[in-house]
Amino acid sequence: MANVTFSSPAMKRDVTVYATAGDCSSLLTVAQKNKIPIHFECENGECGSCAVEVDVLANQQPLGMHLTEKEKTALKLAGKISREQIEQAELNDVPPPWRLACQYIVRDEDILVRF
Ligand code: FES
Repeated sequence: MANVTFSSPAMKRDVTVYATAGDCSSLLTVAQKNKIPIHFECENGECGSCAVEVDVLANQQPLGMHLTEKEKTALKLAGKISREQIEQAELNDVPPPWRLACQYIVRDEDILVRF
């Protein structure tokens, strides 16, 4: 299980939900199931409208992750990721702070999601 806390000026207060790690749900799917108003359009990693900032909580080392080419391109076009952050992700598995909610798969780690 993972605690996912959503925080946004679009909500009256922060909301924490439980997500089952490993069921391959995207962060956007978790948000939709819990009526969290993350903006989205394509749901396919192409438009960049679902960009969110993700922080791993409780001093955990962020789990390694894979950025798809689509996610890299959309985040780059949205100005949310630098070339250095892409290199860090590819070479050292260091996740960048901004992710696409429709591409981010919830894992077994507690996260804060800002949008
Ligand atoms: S909804 Fe378009 S990139 Fe996520």
